[in-house]
Amino acid sequence: MLAEGYRRPEPLQPKRKWGEWFSPVKQGAGGWAFVLHRFTGIVLVLYLFLHFYVLSYLARGPEAYDNVVSLMKNPVVGLLEAALVAAVVYHGLNGLRLMLMALNIGVDRQKEMFWAVFVIAALITLVAAVLLL
Ligand code: HEM
Repeated sequence: MLAEGYRRPEPLQPKRKWGEWFSPVKQGAGGWAFVLHRFTGIVLVLYLFLHFYVLSYLARGPEAYDNVVSLMKNPVVGLLEAALVAAVVYHGLNGLRLMLMALNIGVDRQKEMFWAVFVIAALITLVAAVLLL
C-alpha cells in the first residue's frame, strides 16, 4: 500500500509496445543495425536449440546419421545454412562495432562502421552460399 500523499513518479521512458521491439522507425542506420542485431541474436538462440536437437538425433545410430547427411544435401537446407552464416557474421561483427562504441571508439563513425559490417557480412555470406550450394 502506498503512503498517504505519495505520488508514484512518472516513468522516465514511456512503455514500449511489443511491435516497437523490432521497429527501426525514426532511427536511421543505427536503428537498422540494432534491429538486425536483435533479430540475428534471437535467431542464433533458436538455432542453438535446433543444433542440440540434431546432435542428439545423430547419436541414435548410423541410420540417423545417414538421414541427417542426406538432409544436408537438400538445397533448401543449404540456403538456410547460408542464412545462418549471414546471421552469425553480421551479429559477431556488429557486436564488435557495439563494443567499440561502448568504449567510445568511433561513435561519430557508427554509420560508416555499420555499412562496413553489412558489406563484409554480405560478401562472406556470398562466398559461403557458393560453397554450400
Ligand atoms: C561473435 C560472437 C558474438 C558477439 C561479438 C556478440 C556481441 C553482442 C553484443 C555486444 C550484444 C549487446 C548488444 C547491445 O547492447 O545492444 C549482443 C546481444 C545479444 N546477443 Fe550476441 N554476440 C555474439 C554471439 C552471440 C550468439 C552465439 C548468440 C546466440 C546464441 C547471441 C545472442 C545475442 C542476443 C539474444 C542478444 C540480445 C539482443 C538484444 O537484446 O537486442 N550472440 N551480442
